[in-house]
Amino acid sequence: MTVAVVGAGTIGLSWTTLMLAKGHTVRVTDPRPDLSEAVRDAVREFAPTVPGFAGDAEELLSRVEIVGSVEEAVDGVQAVQENGPERLEFKQDLFAAIEKAAPDSALLLSSTSGLTPSSMSSRMTAPQRLVVGHPFNPPHLLPLVELVGSSDREVARAKEFYLSLGKVAVVVHQEIRGHVANRLQRVLFEECVNLVEQGVVSMTELDDIVTNSVGVRWATVGPFLAFHLGGGPGGLRHMMSHLMPYIPSDVQQRLADQAETVYPLAQNESRAARRDRQQLGIISLKERDDDVR
Ligand SMILES: NC(=O)c1ccc[n+]([C@@H]2O[C@H](COP(=O)([O-])OP(=O)(O)OC[C@H]3O[C@@H](n4cnc5c(N)ncnc54)[C@H](O)[C@@H]3O)[C@@H](O)[C@H]2O)c1
Repeated sequence: MTVAVVGAGTIGLSWTTLMLAKGHTVRVTDPRPDLSEAVRDAVREFAPTVPGFAGDAEELLSRVEIVGSVEEAVDGVQAVQENGPERLEFKQDLFAAIEKAAPDSALLLSSTSGLTPSSMSSRMTAPQRLVVGHPFNPPHLLPLVELVGSSDREVARAKEFYLSLGKVAVVVHQEIRGHVANRLQRVLFEECVNLVEQGVVSMTELDDIVTNSVGVRWATVGPFLAFHLGGGPGGLRHMMSHLMPYIPSDVQQRLADQAETVYPLAQNESRAARRDRQQLGIISLKERDDDVR
């Protein structure tokens, strides 16, 4: 299919490479004067790090169309991935223009890190068409894309599209500034700043602490499954009642019930074995890179 990439900075160039690697024709627009060179250099640099891609970057470049306007970019396409500057008014005008020029059936997707779809779509005639497809940088390499939208149908179509690109597409059920991954990152980073500012640890010590503990753990099991497995035979229920008195008991109850439904205790042994295998793999890769800080 033909996809329009509107805005070719850090994120747009990365999406362009991924979409090309997945076989699509990509039409790119951005007012930057070095657009052609930027696309060429990015595709050559990023293509080797697209998971599973073993093809030729020059063949990918033969499927790029560089165009001079948003209207030209979105004409006749099946999907539009918007990656312009993170300014609300700018995106409101841009999506009004995209909606006018794109086919009625095209997916209209925004990479926005923080803005909500309802705020960005306020100047569209069919605002429910806009779906946030927020990647974790860089999208050609890291699997996550967070989906937020008001139309279940459009969100489902967007999900299908991102799955076809090999992404892990997670639907966020409510509009919330910063979606989910960046909200988590922000809380953790605020505490990193506090600890370094207070002199508790240096910057490199803090980085070593994270990359040798929660970094390895959370690459293999998320925060809930980690504590469900860490709680022994009683799982998350035991972990919370034993070590987390700051969580109200009714919340503990609800979360433990949920954990035992989605992660039945009977299979925790095999989940723990998989976690350990994956962590061993990550640790062995890290060791090979030890000389690079
Ligand atoms: N950088 C990240 O880590 C990251 C991660 C996920 C999502 N995002 C989101 O992706 C979007 C782009 O971020 P970025 O980091 O790539 O920014 P960037 O500044 O690198 O790129 C923005 C691009 O938009 C172009 N642009 C300006 N006006 C335009 C127009 N009228 N039409 C088309 N293009 C235009 C600029 O020339 C620039 O190349 C933002 O919404 C941001 O929140 C960023």
